[in-house]
Amino acid sequence: MSPNGTLDALLVEKRVFRPLPGQAIEANLPPQELEAARKKAQTAPLDIWEEAASELVWYRPWQAVVSAPDGAAFPRWFPGGQTNIVANALDRHVESAHRNTLALIFEYASGENKKFTYFELHREVCRLARAFVSLGAARGDRILIHMPTLPETVIGMLAAARIGAVHCLAPLGFSAKALRRRIEASRARIILTADIGLQGDRMAPIKPVVDEALAGTGETRVETVVVVRRSDQDIPMTEGRDLYYHDILGGGREASPPEPMESDEELFVLHAGSSLSAPRGIVHGHGGYMVGVYRTATWVLDLKPADVIWCTAEPAWITGHSYAVYGPLLAGATTVVVEGNPLAGHGQRLFEIIDRHGVSVLYTSPTLIRMMRRMGAAPGRDRDASTLRLLATAGEPIPPELWVWFHKTMGKGQCPLLDTWWQTETGMILLSPLPASLLAPGSVGRPLPGVSADVVDDAGNPVPPGKGGHLVLNAPWPGMLLTLDGDPEGYRRQYFERIKGVFFTGDMARRDEDGSFWIQGRADDVVQLGGHRLGSAEIEGALASHPALAEAAVIVVPDAMGATAAKAFLVPILDWDLRYDSEEDLVRDVKAHLRRELGTVAEVRFFAVRSCLPKTPSGKISRKALREEA
Ligand code: PRX
Repeated sequence: MSPNGTLDALLVEKRVFRPLPGQAIEANLPPQELEAARKKAQTAPLDIWEEAASELVWYRPWQAVVSAPDGAAFPRWFPGGQTNIVANALDRHVESAHRNTLALIFEYASGENKKFTYFELHREVCRLARAFVSLGAARGDRILIHMPTLPETVIGMLAAARIGAVHCLAPLGFSAKALRRRIEASRARIILTADIGLQGDRMAPIKPVVDEALAGTGETRVETVVVVRRSDQDIPMTEGRDLYYHDILGGGREASPPEPMESDEELFVLHAGSSLSAPRGIVHGHGGYMVGVYRTATWVLDLKPADVIWCTAEPAWITGHSYAVYGPLLAGATTVVVEGNPLAGHGQRLFEIIDRHGVSVLYTSPTLIRMMRRMGAAPGRDRDASTLRLLATAGEPIPPELWVWFHKTMGKGQCPLLDTWWQTETGMILLSPLPASLLAPGSVGRPLPGVSADVVDDAGNPVPPGKGGHLVLNAPWPGMLLTLDGDPEGYRRQYFERIKGVFFTGDMARRDEDGSFWIQGRADDVVQLGGHRLGSAEIEGALASHPALAEAAVIVVPDAMGATAAKAFLVPILDWDLRYDSEEDLVRDVKAHLRRELGTVAEVRFFAVRSCLPKTPSGKISRKALREEA
């Protein structure tokens, strides 16, 4: 325990990893330029984003970089500018020497794959765009996409955006009732769906769920349901409403020019995956989002046209939108999109796909890494993962022990492993080490050049290094949400009024002496023990360093006296019982380990041993389910 008795800085991780000199020099943002960008960010942060925007195609130049640069609510990026994100993701490359570079490699669960060059993907997107227009879709219309992961999911997003329509992806797995709420909220006129699709490990009917949702009482605006056919079985089709995808595509090659969009016109709506509150429709636009995602794809993920990136998130989630679809295409790289479980076959599928396509950048989640570790997954003898040169994770804290394991086993100690922090709301990575940075396992590094973040107390006063507080953003950034769908008041309240003058992220963090940030978890997951504020992530990090544990989660529960106490859910590794006689024996050892790691103040009072933890649809540990259970 630290001398002043606080726990904030207890779990200080001291290890650092240096990038290999060759890698740092070859990065899109090599060390000297990174230094220059950091300098520029201090005096002229907007220049960073303006330079990024200048590398892209605009139909009309912007009048200002941002309309309210002082952090006020509702800033608008590149006002006056006109562009279309798809013109930049596809047409720009089709008109360049990269026309015949691979844009998309799609891996079916069967092991077959389908490849599209930029030219071919552009042609498919134009065909569907023309079909959408012939169905009456126009600029500003909503198109709801309720699809399994298929090439048509990506094509559907790009075709909608091309004509100025707004895509709303509703992930599979919703009940008909929940889907109905999304359909109503989206005000969609067209739904793109499939007859069947892979859900978990099996093929499940999808269109019947859409039918049931549409049969509910009350009005929707849905006029057309477009169905991608996956099976040879006929399914009920409603006359006058339902059409097969392949029937609406024209064979022609006429151009379908991208619609020139105002920079702040809507591109998509996505419901935030928070398990803690009612879903919020987060709206992103063409211009700012495009610039932010492009810059982070090139600076953080270091994408170049020769790269093959596999972002394991499904396209239906924000990580998929930004770094499986738009980011890689804006950067002119090749994106690998995969149907089904990447860890099928005891994890061997992951290595097979990396080997088959020469994946160079792998962007994944701590949950997937944890599962890999649990399986003891390592490349088979005949599998080659040596094309990998950069690893990154997002979405949850990665405990230092897990970081070190992944860095060593997957990256052979040679690939930078970047822990990137961002949210559906931010649209783009905001805090992350860069390929040329020193890496500290468990830290999300510093705000990117041009991004301004701080750690503050409830009143908005900055807290000293080592202290925990609210992670806030004190200047706008280009990928920021435009608003909450249909709820501008809620937008203001939720993000701009919790702490005056800054954007409230809802996360807790601490900053160390070097200015690196350490995410402690959501504000609502903060464990307050004996007057000490400790993020559940820090206790979980300490638990994860126990050799017999594969996964652990901590929640706060009331004890018999009504005081708060911490409860840990432990998932041991597969052969834990070779080492321990009983669960009690294991728990005793874990308690002793926690005392060594955190001292006695962070006492975890209750333990439960499980074979797995409940997960949210996006794969995070569902604390809500754990709380309900407790
Ligand atoms: O709590 C933070 C956590 O995920 C939240 C955002 O989730 P979502 O909107 O689904 O966006 C996912 C995009 C990555 C954040 O508020 N989170 C995200 N990245 C990290 C993280 N927690 C710790 N470390 C991260 N790198």
